[in-house]
Amino acid sequence: MENKIVAIDGPAGSGKGTVAKILADKCGFVYIDTGAMYRAIAYLTLKNNIDLSDEDNIVKLAKESKIEFIDNKLYLNNIDVSKEIRTMEVTKIVSPISSIVCLREILVNMQRQMAESKDVIMEGRDITTVVFPNAKYKFYLDATLDERAKRRYKENISKGIDATFEEIKINIEKRDYNDTHKKVGALTRTSDSIYIDSTNLTIDEVVEKIYKIIKEEA
Ligand code: DC
Repeated sequence: MENKIVAIDGPAGSGKGTVAKILADKCGFVYIDTGAMYRAIAYLTLKNNIDLSDEDNIVKLAKESKIEFIDNKLYLNNIDVSKEIRTMEVTKIVSPISSIVCLREILVNMQRQMAESKDVIMEGRDITTVVFPNAKYKFYLDATLDERAKRRYKENISKGIDATFEEIKINIEKRDYNDTHKKVGALTRTSDSIYIDSTNLTIDEVVEKIYKIIKEEA
């Protein structure tokens, strides 16, 4: 039987990560957080003191790296770096790193290989457009800017991260702009993706909606 690929796109704060993780557990699929892969390369770039402008060496690092997802953790060259890739230092440089076109090619290839023989739920900003435009299950998760900023604000408070609601809102707006204006892999809502506006839905309601569709068509 052919393996299944569920592709989820959406802007920052749309809940795609949380939803994808719960869905993967519920369906017994492998969860692939593609943002974490870009973060892994950003982490390696910092660790090796490579300048952000040194694209050749950043691409070389990616070519020589092994990235795996095991039990929802990211292993970089056999070491679990799930925590290290979430630091502020990594977050600051991951956007420019993810704009390096040759690096995107390498990571997109890795993502396609990861889904070759397993059922996967893959989440990121170019999954329905670039990585798996022909996936059977394509979803675009969305919510209003205000709601997405509210979610991030609450999340930050629970993690003890200090930022005002206005700061977060401006940051998300900026990320929306960057994500939709990337030269390659820009965030776009395709007409063949199922659109889910989660502004007034709980995480569980979104999970249920997607789960029903996957199960109905299975
Ligand atoms: O979702 P996140 O914050 O962990 O993503 C980290 C960065 O990687 C963010 O700047 C967007 C970028 N990204 C990307 O360009 N393509 C993807 N498929 C996933 C993330």
